[in-house]
Amino acid sequence: MLSTLLLLSLLGVSDSLVSPDGTGRLPAMGWNSWNEYACDISDDVFVQVADLVVNLGLRELGYKYVNIDDCWSTKGTTRDNSTQRIIPDPNKFPQGIRHVADEIHARGLKLGIYGDAGTQTCGGFPGSLGYEETDAAAWSEWGVDYLKYDNCNIPQEWVDVPYMYPDNGGTPNGNVPPGYDWSTSNSSTRYNRMRNALLAQNRTIQYSLCIWGHANVVSWGNATGHSWRMFSDIYPAWTGTYQYSQALMPILNQAAFYANVSGFWGHNDWDMLEVGNGNLTLEENRSHFALWAALKSPLIIGTKLDAILPEILAILKNEELIAFNQDAVYGAGAIPYRWDGVGNETHPADYWAGSSSRGVHAFVLNTEDEEREMELVFDEIPGLREATGAGSGPYLVHDMWTGEDLGVFASAVMLRVKRHDTAAVRINTADGEFVTSDFGRVFAYLY
Ligand SMILES: *[C@@H]1O[C@H](CO)[C@@H](O)[C@H](O)[C@H]1NC(C)=O
Ligand SMILES: *[C@@H]1O[C@H](CO)[C@@H](O)[C@H](O)[C@H]1NC(C)=O
Ligand SMILES: *[C@@H]1O[C@H](CO)[C@@H](O)[C@H](O)[C@H]1NC(C)=O
Ligand SMILES: *[C@@H]1O[C@H](CO)[C@@H](O)[C@H](O)[C@H]1NC(C)=O
Ligand SMILES: *[C@@H]1O[C@H](CO)[C@@H](O)[C@H](O)[C@H]1NC(C)=O
Ligand SMILES: *[C@@H]1O[C@H](CO)[C@@H](O)[C@H](O)[C@H]1NC(C)=O
Ligand SMILES: *[C@@H]1O[C@H](CO)[C@@H](O)[C@H](O)[C@H]1NC(C)=O
Ligand SMILES: *[C@@H]1O[C@H](CO)[C@@H](O)[C@H](O)[C@H]1NC(C)=O
Repeated sequence: MLSTLLLLSLLGVSDSLVSPDGTGRLPAMGWNSWNEYACDISDDVFVQVADLVVNLGLRELGYKYVNIDDCWSTKGTTRDNSTQRIIPDPNKFPQGIRHVADEIHARGLKLGIYGDAGTQTCGGFPGSLGYEETDAAAWSEWGVDYLKYDNCNIPQEWVDVPYMYPDNGGTPNGNVPPGYDWSTSNSSTRYNRMRNALLAQNRTIQYSLCIWGHANVVSWGNATGHSWRMFSDIYPAWTGTYQYSQALMPILNQAAFYANVSGFWGHNDWDMLEVGNGNLTLEENRSHFALWAALKSPLIIGTKLDAILPEILAILKNEELIAFNQDAVYGAGAIPYRWDGVGNETHPADYWAGSSSRGVHAFVLNTEDEEREMELVFDEIPGLREATGAGSGPYLVHDMWTGEDLGVFASAVMLRVKRHDTAAVRINTADGEFVTSDFGRVFAYLY
């Protein structure tokens, strides 16, 4: 039976992957094993995580995917001699992946798996290039709901021309003639093959392209997958580069130049959350979550959930930030609109704004190493006048972290923001219900 998805794409009805059940319309939310467990995984890990996702109240906030990352299969290029299928590691998954899927589904959650668009995964396990249909059929039969598809070990005959990956001294998108159509590239073809294989299955599988921003994926990703990784792997530090990984600020700086890309059915993926990992301070943990939510990046938790610190859990459970990320009416993410910094890897854009069905939101990031006062000037916020029809104010300002109103302000509000923290506010008209308090440039001491 031809799936509705395939039908839609064959008819050219849409240039994006749309599904009747809405899968992939909004950024994915869930948990993934890689950031804290790496290859040290087993079926127990995922079943226990699923219990915690439910018991900690994360499921009801929208975290629904429990995702297996690399290292779930038998090493090398070994496949089953008769079916050609990838063989789950018998020690880690003695009852196979289907068993894990059943356990996850029994808890009202969905299961994600990991594959690679080359000959081997980044960890050296079997890749799916040339086996797309075999692997998609296996995953579908096992009950998999989500695929993260990585980009390691690409054979020579599949590299893009010109061969200009950043690691080779080129730019991510190569030196191509003006107007070069990246949707015709070998990278696009590799990822489209898996899309077609997934669409041919009798199951809706969310498709996450882990392509690191290569091959100008922003120009063709929407037609291929539901989200696409835009940059190197994330690292749990505030700034700096760590081998092939990038800390939070370099990623945010990159995001500032692609902020207008995300929309319904297709999202820039700034990588899985490191909230709770590494050496981040409380404020850095908060900024990370607020900004990834604002960017409409998928929100995939990457920390251990057993013995999770209450303050970290509270960040991940911030209902107002999640609501912005998951808004059913406004598809675009927040955009940077004011750069007090220079826009580099330590001082990326610091003022961001976006709309949701609850109002207009501003995210004000302090990239400096000391606490400071940062003025939020209403006239500078893109879309505020249009959205509210309130001219230049006054406006009610609401703190998305505390859930409390800061007050009504005429033209600006001064926010005191700690080192590396992010103020997240919602702005609405100052109507009846909300009693006007301080007009003018009043200092609001946030925290
Ligand atoms: C596949 O067949 C080869 C040769 O008969 C054998 O060496 C190998 O162990 C088999 N692999 C699996 C996974 O069964
Ligand atoms: C794909 O790879 C082949 C083999 O290297 C190359 O000849 C071809 O030009 C590539 N195509 C594109 C569009 O990059
Ligand atoms: C499709 O899924 C349904 C329900 O899960 C199943 O009964 C049916 O056999 C499947 N069809 C194919 C072709 O796999
Ligand atoms: C995003 O902005 C860039 C540069 O400002 C522009 O070239 C590009 O066309 C925009 N993309 C969309 C989807 O609006
Ligand atoms: C993806 O396509 C949908 C229409 O199907 C559109 O609404 C959305 O803005 C597009 N997103 C991107 C990132 O191009
Ligand atoms: C931020 O996350 C890290 C890693 O778990 C944690 O050690 C730290 O305590 C968090 N910050 C605070 C102050 O909660
Ligand atoms: C955290 O800091 C300690 C001590 O400075 C260092 O050894 C460790 O590598 C850091 N961890 C990360 C993830 O940066
Ligand atoms: C970013 O710009 C600031 C201010 O000009 C400068 O102090 C800092 O060294 C720059 N950082 C990087 C990584 O270039």
